[in-house]
Amino acid sequence: MNPPNSDSLFTITPGAGDLPKLTLVAPDGAQAEIYLHGAHVTSWIPAGGQERLFLSRASRFRADAPIRGGIPIVFPQFAMLGSLPQHGFVRVMPWEFVEVKKAGTGASAIFRLRDTKESRALWANAFLAELTLAIDGNQLAVTLAILNTGTEPFAFTAAFHTYLAVTDLAATVVETLTGVRYLDKAAGGIENRQTSPQMGFSGEVDQVYFDAPAELHLIEPNRTTRIRSEGFPDAVLWNPAAVKCAAVSDLVPDDYQRFVCVEAGVIGTPINLAPGTRWQGTQTLLA
Ligand code: BG6
Repeated sequence: MNPPNSDSLFTITPGAGDLPKLTLVAPDGAQAEIYLHGAHVTSWIPAGGQERLFLSRASRFRADAPIRGGIPIVFPQFAMLGSLPQHGFVRVMPWEFVEVKKAGTGASAIFRLRDTKESRALWANAFLAELTLAIDGNQLAVTLAILNTGTEPFAFTAAFHTYLAVTDLAATVVETLTGVRYLDKAAGGIENRQTSPQMGFSGEVDQVYFDAPAELHLIEPNRTTRIRSEGFPDAVLWNPAAVKCAAVSDLVPDDYQRFVCVEAGVIGTPINLAPGTRWQGTQTLLA
């Protein structure tokens, strides 16, 4: 049997809300789905495995709203750390599909977004953003690259706001954050240092860890997901718990039991990008 060529690795079909969705299938059977709206990964099934990303059943799939779940791209502003809308604007913009490539047993897809009249009305800078999604065996890697295509420097914060599916939240912990300084947004924005070797989710968690280790572990009763980052010095843990979850219109009230966000971010010290220069960061999930 001939190995599949890049033409047979993907399809682009109308997804929810008729928004275009690319389905990527690697030669080894690993699969992912990504909407051009926000270059938003909504599904990842490792080779021979099960769905590992949470996607809300109540998500809006509309051009003017972010998708709830999967891997939202946060750029050029994390949360409300500036005057832009929460988490910036690229998660609600239509990205361009560039290409799909086969790489050994895996496959990758590239998407691009340039500044537009709408983005410049919010943020005056000229940029090219590129998202590379790569799947291979038990791994998914997302890389965000930002090129300053203008004549002035600009500063930004960014993140992959990754929603990992969990089946037993009360028995789920994150490890390797011991001793790391964090901002506790759920406790009103106080700074703290993680003392526990295992961070659990018994209530609302909204914590920004600065200079976090390059590998975190999401440990569930029957599986562990390793989460690596390069170029993103910070990490965010988010779970809204029952009360806040019920107030989020695009989450089902008990959805907080189905995910933990483990985000790779550059938040504490913004990136300053000179004209003509490029920055990139990667988050890799290992099932
Ligand atoms: C997290 C923030 O990264 O994202 C939280 O730390 C925020 O404060 C959460 O509530 C979800 O944001 P949004 O805009 O996708 O609802």
